[in-house]
Amino acid sequence: MRFDILTLFPGMFAGLLNESILKRAQERGLVSIHLHNIRDYATDRHQTTDDTPFGGGGGMVIKPEPLFAAVESVRQETQVPVILLSPQGRLFNQALAAELGRQPRLILICGRYEGVDERVREHLVTDEISIGDYVLSGGELAAMVLVEATTRLLPGALGDPGAVFEDSHARGLLEYPHYTRPAVFRGWEVPEVLRAGNHADIARWRREQALRRTWERRPELIDRAQLTEQDIKFLARLTQEGPEPLGAETVITKD
Ligand code: ADE
Repeated sequence: MRFDILTLFPGMFAGLLNESILKRAQERGLVSIHLHNIRDYATDRHQTTDDTPFGGGGGMVIKPEPLFAAVESVRQETQVPVILLSPQGRLFNQALAAELGRQPRLILICGRYEGVDERVREHLVTDEISIGDYVLSGGELAAMVLVEATTRLLPGALGDPGAVFEDSHARGLLEYPHYTRPAVFRGWEVPEVLRAGNHADIARWRREQALRRTWERRPELIDRAQLTEQDIKFLARLTQEGPEPLGAETVITKD
């Protein structure tokens, strides 16, 4: 898969691209990530990329010419999705990461300042994506989130290929809790079921923990999750118990 990222700050990406999963994925040839400085496509003497808004008001707006020139140079006649990162886009989530991962190529535009000239949205961009309902100073962090979440889903990107199926959100639920050695730390014990080694019991415990967590923390996700009859029975039992505060799984003693 190939990402072309158009940004005014290519230096911001160095840390992310040269460490860990993304570094390995590039070395293995699973992804290639190409950074393009929008400023290189400005044609005037001062290489201007932004200007004041028509109609007045504060802030600066990214000009259309360098963005059109950059996209047209990078995509070379082929049909490639052009994604603008902006707080006005559709909300990024795990399903969208998987959907994007099926594309052979993506062009990402990182906005800055007050925004980009609206003609970029209307005539250049094919999709607009937001990573959450908050405003960042630019699309760079959002592009990094998109590239990371998408790449780790590509076959071969992670050491353990099964890991992505258990991730929080991968199957519509938050993930169950994890423990490692020591079995007792400062008097706090790892749940007995995990130490006993019965795989069926462990699988059931994990599923119930995932359901319980999701129900307590993100109940709206339950409505969209794929549930078995056993899940539904377990949730009915939880509902009868009544809502518990966050993290109340362990120590509640009444009376
Ligand atoms: N640019 C600024 N804020 C953003 C957000 N929340 N998502 C994507 N791009 C952005």
